[in-house]
Amino acid sequence: MFRRRATQVQDACVPQHKIIAVYDKLAPVYDIWGALTETKARSRALELASIDDGSAILEVAVGTGLTFAELVKQNPTGTNIGIDISTGMLDKAKARLKKVENATYQLETGSAFKLNIESHSVDILMNNYMFDLIAFKEMPVILNEFKRVLKHDGRLILVNMTQGESRFSRMYELIYHLSPKLMGGCRGVTLTDELIASGFKVETREYIQQMLFPSEVILARPNNRAPLE
Ligand SMILES: C[S@@+](CC[C@H](N)C(=O)[O-])C[C@H]1O[C@@H](n2cnc3c(N)ncnc32)[C@H](O)[C@@H]1O
Repeated sequence: MFRRRATQVQDACVPQHKIIAVYDKLAPVYDIWGALTETKARSRALELASIDDGSAILEVAVGTGLTFAELVKQNPTGTNIGIDISTGMLDKAKARLKKVENATYQLETGSAFKLNIESHSVDILMNNYMFDLIAFKEMPVILNEFKRVLKHDGRLILVNMTQGESRFSRMYELIYHLSPKLMGGCRGVTLTDELIASGFKVETREYIQQMLFPSEVILARPNNRAPLE
């Protein structure tokens, strides 16, 4: 019974209005989880971003700034904007970024659903471990917003918790099934089809497992040939 349910693709059970409180509470301990399970996927995402200094970079759902600090270091003369809906997570990010020398950045409260960013102005949009807590029906709204702000040749780098490809890596789905908040509201997703449906070209999708925790790392670009809505 559990096995069958645990391998099904689940929809998000923690609604967005409750996510802020979940992450304000998780902020003090989030980096421990990040260090144990996410460092490999995060490093690969940074490799795929292949940053040229001087770029316009936006990180949505910046969290405690684990990736943002690296983006800022690699883009000292560019524009670096990080947003998140949780002030608890943002406060941790601000404390982390204070330690980066000669850093140029903005860290602000904001939601992926409505970005306060000019259209077609972003070279690299980074978004890690956020879609795994978004309901499937809401994903196109955010992906359209990402497409709006990206330059036509811009790059979208996504990291998500995904479905495990081995028996034991599916235990996280089981934990989510039993207690979604224990998983920070994150369940395994595979974003490739949603990206294509929202007018992106998926250049690569890689599966990375760390401490049995399954992640996908995706590089996508706006598909400028997709029919306009
Ligand atoms: C699992 S954490 C990942 C944090 C960070 N991206 C990382 O990789 O360490 C999920 C983050 O997404 C943020 N988040 C959730 N929904 C969001 C939304 N609609 N807009 C912006 N941030 C959101 C949460 O506040 C939280 O900081």
